[in-house]
Formats: sequence, C-alpha cells, structure tokens
Amino acid sequence: MSSAVRSFLRDDDLSPAEQSHVLDRAAALKAAPYDHKPLAGPRTVATIYDKPTLRTQSSFAAGIAELGGFPMLVDGALAGIGVRESVADVARVLGRQAGVIVWRTFAQVKLDQMAAYAGVPVVNALTDEFHPCQLLADLLTIREHKGTLAGLTVAFLGDAACNMGNSWALAGVTAGMHVRFGAPEGYVPDTEVLARADEIGKATGGSVELHTDASSAVADADVLVTDTWVSMGKEDEAAARTAVFSPYSLTTALVSRAKPDAIVLHCLPAYRGKEIDAEVLDGPQSVVWDEAENRRHAQKAILAFLAEQSGISAPSAELVEAHGTSR
Ligand code: NVA
Repeated sequence: MSSAVRSFLRDDDLSPAEQSHVLDRAAALKAAPYDHKPLAGPRTVATIYDKPTLRTQSSFAAGIAELGGFPMLVDGALAGIGVRESVADVARVLGRQAGVIVWRTFAQVKLDQMAAYAGVPVVNALTDEFHPCQLLADLLTIREHKGTLAGLTVAFLGDAACNMGNSWALAGVTAGMHVRFGAPEGYVPDTEVLARADEIGKATGGSVELHTDASSAVADADVLVTDTWVSMGKEDEAAARTAVFSPYSLTTALVSRAKPDAIVLHCLPAYRGKEIDAEVLDGPQSVVWDEAENRRHAQKAILAFLAEQSGISAPSAELVEAHGTSR
C-alpha cells in the first residue's frame, strides 16, 4: 500500500480520473451511508474553523461519525494558530493526535504549510482562494440531476474572483464541463487558476469562458450557479460590491434564457433579492437543498479516498475481504 500522504488543498489535487472515482464513491456512500467505516477505531479527524460555518461543520461532523471516526473540534482562536505558535508546530502536534486535519481558514498559504508539516492528510474546508469540498458536492448534485458532467455548460454569475470562482474553474474543467463566468471586469478567477484550467481542459475537453454580459453567460446553459457577493472577510466592502454585482443577480428573467431544464445551484448562505431572486432560490429549478446534503456524502468520499491513498485505512475491497462484511 502506498504510504505517500495525499491532501486535498485545491480542486486540481484530484486528476480527472480521481475526481470521477471520488464522485462514484460519494454516490455509493449516499446509497449506503452506514456500511463503510474506514475511520473505525475511531480514528480522529481534527476539524478547525477560523471563519463562520454551518454546512461545513455539521456535514464533516456527521460524515466523519458515519465513517466510524471521531470529529475533534479544535478551537483555532484558543490554539492561536500562527500567533501563539507557528502553523508548522501546530501541524506537527495535530498530526500526532489525528489521522486527518480539516481546516477552514483565510490564506491558502497557511493550509499549504499545515499540509507540509502535519504528516497526515489535510483537507481544505474553504480558504480565501478555494472551496474544493463544495465543488465535489456541486458536481455530485449535477450528476444526480443530469446523469453526466462532461460536455455540460455551467454559468457562474457574480463574484468570480472568490474561492467559488477559482474552484469552479478548476473542478468544472476537470470534469470536462464548459464553465462560463458572467462577472464584471476585475472580478474573474485568478490568472494562474485560469491558465491551469486551460491546461486541464486540453485533456478533458472542458473550457472556461469569461463574459461581462450576464445574459450571454447564461444563454442555453445547463446549470446556473451563483454565490454571495460578499464573501466572509469582505464585509466592509458590502456596499461597493452590491453596486458592482447587481447586473449579475440571478433573476427569473435570466433563468428563462438558460435551457428549460436548467438547474440552479448556490453554495449558501444565500441573500434573496441580492445575488439571487427568492423565486429562483425557492423555485422548481433550484437543487440547493440536495447540494447542501451532498456536502456530507462528497466529504465522506474524499476522506475515505485520502485515508486509503495515505495508508491510513485499507482499500474498501480489502476491508470487505478481511472482515467478510462491509464494515
Ligand atoms: N464565497 C463564499 C462561500 C461561502 C460558502 C465565502 O467565502 O464566504
């Protein structure tokens, strides 16, 4: 069994084949949520949240428990990560207590440091730059409703410069999708991320397009996505952002320009009347509650995958063989 530690820090840490495998695993775990316990022991998963959370904390806690593990909540402020002691020293200590570390924080570079020193897999539970666990849940949800991912057109409206924009560029193209951003100039994904998405697209057939016109971005799209205009940490820019992004609000009029069977995603929390009309969020094309549930199944799948890849748990087939039953 390979003992190289694998982390999930950004969406392109999974190859196209691995992403597809993790999504298959998520669907299987959703169908039989209590039958697979790769974290039995229980193995401890340290979870740290430096920004507000509802879906992430609850879905990781429930999912880790369902995998047979123990979700240990570490108070980042109490620990003083990077203040009272360095990220590297925190990583060295937590890596001796836990089998996996899940961290929501600000700068991606801190997460990279945690992964460099922990000696165990580290999972990005949202940074300023990426939100890869959300994307696994989004892709799982789209697959459930559309039966496929490759070749579909996704239109993401609003603040494409945020974590969700970067993650959509990487994960969507990895899945072979055509990702259109409808966003004002200056609010597009990171240059390095766009270049990386282009490179991935050469192998998968996926692509990224930048539109400044919301209407052209959503035309005939299969999937419509938006996110808050005011990401966590940007609260003092709220007024200016509302002015810049208001033409990109996902209204019923814009939805009617997409395919008639288009589905609507939003990672939540949502602000009705701002980035999305209440009629759209609460309407028949919205799949946001499936999407929220799928955080748990998708995160269980990535935890199980990383645990196997890193030699923390036996591959599922071996578990079945060793114990004569699916544990
Ligand atoms: N872009 C949002 C995502 C929330 C899940 C934020 O960072 O606040």
